[in-house]
Amino acid sequence: MGRAFVHVILGGGVAAGYAALEFARRGGYSRGELCIISEETVAPYERPALSKGYLLPEGAARLPGFHTCVGANDELLTAKWYKDNGIELVLGTKVIAADVRRKTLLTGTGETISYKNLIIATGARALKLEEFGINGSDASNICYLRNLDDADKLVNVMKSCPGGNAVVIGGGYIGMECAAALVTNRIKVTIVFPENHCKSLRYSAELSHSHYKNLIVAYLFSAVARLFTPKIAEYYENYYSSKGVTFIKGTVLTSFEKEAETGKVFVEVTSVILKDGKHLPADMVVVGIGIRASTSLFEGQLLMEQGGIKINGQMLTSDASVYAVGDVAAFPIKLFDGVIRRLEHVDSARRTARHAVAAILEPSKTKDIDYMPFFYSRVFTLSWQFYGNNTGDVVHFGDFTSSSPRFGAYWVDKGRIRGAFLEGGSREEYEAISNVVRRKAKVTNIAELENQGLMFAIQE
Ligand code: FDA
Ligand code: NAD
Repeated sequence: MGRAFVHVILGGGVAAGYAALEFARRGGYSRGELCIISEETVAPYERPALSKGYLLPEGAARLPGFHTCVGANDELLTAKWYKDNGIELVLGTKVIAADVRRKTLLTGTGETISYKNLIIATGARALKLEEFGINGSDASNICYLRNLDDADKLVNVMKSCPGGNAVVIGGGYIGMECAAALVTNRIKVTIVFPENHCKSLRYSAELSHSHYKNLIVAYLFSAVARLFTPKIAEYYENYYSSKGVTFIKGTVLTSFEKEAETGKVFVEVTSVILKDGKHLPADMVVVGIGIRASTSLFEGQLLMEQGGIKINGQMLTSDASVYAVGDVAAFPIKLFDGVIRRLEHVDSARRTARHAVAAILEPSKTKDIDYMPFFYSRVFTLSWQFYGNNTGDVVHFGDFTSSSPRFGAYWVDKGRIRGAFLEGGSREEYEAISNVVRRKAKVTNIAELENQGLMFAIQE
C-alpha cells in the first residue's frame, strides 16, 4: 500500500507547523499534494510551552491553545486549519525507513509514502541516563521532557507528591526551567549537575570518566557552548537559592534507590545516589541531560555535520530533493563567516522552516539564509534574551544585585561586538542589543563599553 505527495514534511513539531503556514501563505500546492507525517498524535504545537505554561499550578496552558504558530504571534493552526487548507496530517505515524534515492518513506504501519520534495523536521530526542551507563530511568516517578506525553507524566507525578522532594538532574535549559516550575508547584528542589555553574561548559577530568564519554560528545555537538558566564550564572543560582532550590554542583549521579510497590508492576525511585555515595531523598526526579538530533533515518544517505544533517543556505541537504530544518539541521551562519551550526532553539526552527518552503517554491528569488542566532528563557519573573555568538572577551554591565534585575554582557572579539545577553530588558532594549550584534558594532575602548553598558546599544 502507498500514497504519493508532492511535498512531504517529516516530523510534526515546531518547524513542521511553521513550514505548513508558509506553504499555505504562498499557495504553492493543491489539496492532497502536501502532508505532515508525525509520530505525535496531535497537530504541531509550540514545544517551549511544555516547560513553562504547561506546568503552571493554575491556569496551565493546554491544547489547542498553544498549537503553532501562536508562539510567533501568528495564526493558531488547529487540526481544522490543516483540513481547511488541504494539508494532510498523518499523525501517530512513525517513519521507520527512508530511501532517498527512491524518494520514499516507510511507515511503522507498512505504508510507503513517496515524495517529490521532502522537508526533514524530525527534531531531536532527549538523551537517556542509560546512555551514560545509569539504569532505571523507566521508573514511574522519573520524568524527561520532550513531548506532550512527557509533560503529562511530569504534571501527574508532581500532583502525586505535593510538598515532596524533587531531584533535578542537569543544569541546562530543561533543568533550570523545570526547577522553577517545580518550586512554583511547592515542591522542594535539589538540582545536580557536573559543571561548576549552571549552563556552563567545563571539559574536565570529571567529565572524562568513561560513563560520561557520550556526554562530552553531546556537548561538542550541542548548538553553542554553554551560555552563562560565571557571573551571570551566579545571579540565577542565588535567585533560585532564594526560592529554596539547593544546588549540588561538580558531581553526577551513579544510581537510584528504588522500591517496587507490592502488587504493582512499576518501580518507584526513592532516592538518587551521587558519586560520593550521598543519598538524596526523591519523591520524583526530572532528567534534562541534553538531546541528540534525530538523524538516524538518513545516516549513510545524506551528509552529516555537528551531529545533524548538513544543509546549505537554501536549507537543501546533499540530495537535491531533500531539505532539513529545525533542531536536526546544521547550516551556515553568514554572521559567523559561514561557520556551520546546529541550533537547538525555537526561533531557528521557525525561520529555517519558512526559508526551506520559500526555497522550494521560489528558488530563484530565495537568497541564502542570513540568520542571527537568538535564544531566550523565562523562569519565575525573570526573562533573558541572547543574540549572536558567545566568543571573545566578556564585558558585563548593569545591576546584578536587584531582585528585579536589568543586567547583561557583550562578547567582544577583534574589536567588534559578537554577542549580547540581556536580563530584564524592554522590547526596545532587546532590539537595541540585537542590532549591535547584527552590525558587529565597533568597540574602541572596553572600559568605556563597560561604563556605557546598555546605553552603548541604545545610542548606536
Ligand atoms: P521538534 O522536536 O519540535 O519536532 C520534531 C517532530 O518530529 C516531533 O513531532 C517528532 O515526534 C517527529 N518525529 C521525529 N522522528 C520521527 C519519525 N521517524 N517519524 C515521524 N515523526 C518523527 N527553544 C527556545 O528557543 N526557547 C525556549 O524557551 C524553549 N523551550 C523548550 C522547552 C522544552 C520542554 C523543549 C523540549 C524544548 C524547548 N526549546 C526552546 C527548544 C525548541 O522547542 C526546539 O528547538 C524546537 O522544538 C525544534 O523544532 P523541530 O521542529 O526541529 O523539532
Ligand atoms: P542542555 O544541553 O541545555 O543541558 C544539559 C545539562 O545536563 C548540562 O548542564 C549538563 O551538564 C547536564 N548533565 C549531563 N549529564 C548529567 C549527569 N549525568 N548528571 C547531572 N547533570 C548532567 O540540555 P537540556 O537542558 O536537556 O535541554 C534539552 C533541549 O531542550 C536543548 O536542545 C535545549 O536547547 C532545549 N530547551 C531550550 C530551552 C530554551 O531555549 N529556553 C528551554 C528548554 C529546553
